[in-house]
Amino acid sequence: MHTLHVELAERSYPVYIGRDLLADPQLLAKHIAGSQVVLISNDTVAPLYMDRVRQGLGPDKRVTEVLLPDGEQYKTLVTLSEIFDQVLAAGHHRTTTFVALGGGVVGDITGFAAACYQRGVDFVQIPTTLLAQVDSSVGGKTAVNHPLGKNMIGAFHQPRAVLIDTNTLQTLPAREFSAGLAEVIKYGLIGDESFYRWLEQHIPKLMAREEAALAEAIERSCSNKATVVSADEREGGLRAILNLGHTFGHAIETAQGYGQWLHGEAVAVGMVLALELSARRGLIPGSEVANLCALLQTAALPTAPPADMSPETFVELMARDKKVVDGRLRLVLLAAIGEACIVDDVQTRELIELLQKRP
Ligand code: NAD
Ligand code: GLY
Repeated sequence: MHTLHVELAERSYPVYIGRDLLADPQLLAKHIAGSQVVLISNDTVAPLYMDRVRQGLGPDKRVTEVLLPDGEQYKTLVTLSEIFDQVLAAGHHRTTTFVALGGGVVGDITGFAAACYQRGVDFVQIPTTLLAQVDSSVGGKTAVNHPLGKNMIGAFHQPRAVLIDTNTLQTLPAREFSAGLAEVIKYGLIGDESFYRWLEQHIPKLMAREEAALAEAIERSCSNKATVVSADEREGGLRAILNLGHTFGHAIETAQGYGQWLHGEAVAVGMVLALELSARRGLIPGSEVANLCALLQTAALPTAPPADMSPETFVELMARDKKVVDGRLRLVLLAAIGEACIVDDVQTRELIELLQKRP
């Protein structure tokens, strides 16, 4: 087992990464301060892993299980309210601890429920998708969706611990696994060239879900994320680099309708576009765009936008992005492989040319 630390003064916490962590009787229990636990999962993940987590809590805790329906469409205020109904009916006090067992959807809603319940209680993340293990479980962003926008109602609320059992990835569907790899690749591009070169070498092993390669990729991803979050917890500046490819990606997700493209698939294409724009500006060699496409293809990820999506649609949807500040679109580009930069001078014409004249 490897342990990383997200350094945030009194809100610091460990991220444990390893095999069979769910079977460790001490690991989870030591992060539960009181005698009450709210264990939240969904109807896909619970049958696979809930029993193991319950055993990890030991016999002395009073546990309330809350099972959510599976899917992004349930990451809503309605579901949140249903969680509170069950937790209040079971008599949970301020000393209770919420535990999220599942992917980013369960993690985000559980974290937000913990942020709100009785003005804030402890919570622990047990992420079971690759995306959740390398991204959403670390950093304290919690939220639910609103009909007018994704993740629009939320809070920063850091977990007490993140427990990543790499074994859980063995049951993850292939498409979900690849989508998580897009975020792994992102960390190399934005801040860690040696990790990126390592990924180029090890992508076949990762695709085969080989344990040692997986553990290393997750650890290096979480380490990169922890460094960024420790430096800029509330996204005053630096943390925005974690959004490489996301502004293009959100436009694809919105245009195609949520659920058609997975987030990581759209981010993969967004990263290609961000690197192309960086190359057009002379920041990185054009050969790096081809290198990224090769890596993404080996990871079974798309590298081109949907054929039916016009440059104008892209530009219109990108203008609605949360990252637009005072009418100026802020985009993450690369100054070099392993070095992100944020620009706010990209003109509509430059975007249209990028999207029209792609090779
Ligand atoms: P998800 O939570 O919907 O999980 C994907 C699918 O895999 C679901 O059907 C889930 O039930 C299933 N699953 C989960 N673990 C499994 C396992 N081990 N075996 C088999 N099936 C399993 O999707 P996701 O990609 O994990 O998360 C996406 C969510 O994360 C979005 O809501 C997004 O907004 C959020 N997110 C949050 C942050 C953040 O910083 N908080 C960052 C990125 C994404
Ligand atoms: N996933 C982006 C962030 O945590 O800031």
